Amino acid sequence: MRSYCRSTTIPLPLMKSKPFGKIPDGRTAQLFTLKLPSGLQADITDYGGTVVRLLVPDRAGKLDDVVLGFDSAEKYAAHTSYFGCLIGRFGNRIAAGKFHLNGRTYTLATNNVPAGQPCHLHGGPEGFHRKLWSADLINRAGNSALRLHYVSRDGEEGYPGNLTVTVVYSLTDSQGLRIDYEATCDQPTPVNLTNHSYFNLRGEGSGDVLDHELTLNAAHFTPVNSGQIPTGEIAPIAGTPFDFRTPQKIGALINSTNEQLKNGEGYDHNFVLDAGKSAQPALVATAYEARSGRCMEILTTEPGVQLYSGNFLDGTLVGKSGRPYHRRNAFCLETQHYPDSPNQPAFPSTILIPGQTYRSTTVHRFSAK
Ligand code: GLA
Repeated sequence: MRSYCRSTTIPLPLMKSKPFGKIPDGRTAQLFTLKLPSGLQADITDYGGTVVRLLVPDRAGKLDDVVLGFDSAEKYAAHTSYFGCLIGRFGNRIAAGKFHLNGRTYTLATNNVPAGQPCHLHGGPEGFHRKLWSADLINRAGNSALRLHYVSRDGEEGYPGNLTVTVVYSLTDSQGLRIDYEATCDQPTPVNLTNHSYFNLRGEGSGDVLDHELTLNAAHFTPVNSGQIPTGEIAPIAGTPFDFRTPQKIGALINSTNEQLKNGEGYDHNFVLDAGKSAQPALVATAYEARSGRCMEILTTEPGVQLYSGNFLDGTLVGKSGRPYHRRNAFCLETQHYPDSPNQPAFPSTILIPGQTYRSTTVHRFSAK
């Protein structure tokens, strides 16, 4: 049993919540604040289970908000940016919005059309990022935690069966934002949950992230076709712009002539993590920003991570501090199973069956040097 199942629901003094605006059906979203004595602070709304603000100390102890986002639920509802939200039932793409399971064909919304080729993206237009989750504040290992709960009904967005999902956001003594996901179902269904935070370790709205140094513990990735669907190949990254096994600036090779970078319009690819699916979160990625000294390590139990270099940001979205978000002003590292897994027999299975519990944990751990 997970420790949060044993947690009490007594609010800690460092936790509070306040209204965050109205969602399209008229209900009011709340914004919850989790905070550590070090200053590390996460503001999370129950609308989409979205990380709205993440304050992290730099090497001088100065706090900056390192994630892109908006200042109200209305703005999250008005734009499909996926800033900071929970993604489900299935993170990333499913080819043509179709998959076969137990002799049936399931048809999902095709809400994304890379290079004119329709696919299903991030659980569909009304995916988990658009749901008001029920929320309660809990004490986990002595620190602030927010438990979110959502029941996705049979047929929602075309997926089979009822899926009961619990996500716990907690802050850890090791200066981490930890996300624990759990889900159960009553019919076999694909499940691939993630969080879609966009990071800029110098601070949101401070320009591009091309000089962030990235390390990824991955010797392989899953190449995509021009419609950004995996070809099925697990390709070695050695000798390509995808080799981040030693620290490399995100921008160092992003403009190289490379078919994969062309297909993704930059980095928008799943890396096959060397650690594989692991029982305990393994260190898979490190990002470092030299000016602030901030460092973010990502630990996960998932077998993959999507590196997305903010290729589709185009300056039209204006963030919570009034500054527009331009191309490559942030990067995402979405821990996940591989995209299009329901149509890719060679990839690790993403099918959850009744009686099993889906479990996944990711930790974003911060330091400064
Ligand atoms: C993921 C996808 C990208 C894009 C972003 C959100 O990273 O792989 O192609 O859809 O989400 O814009």
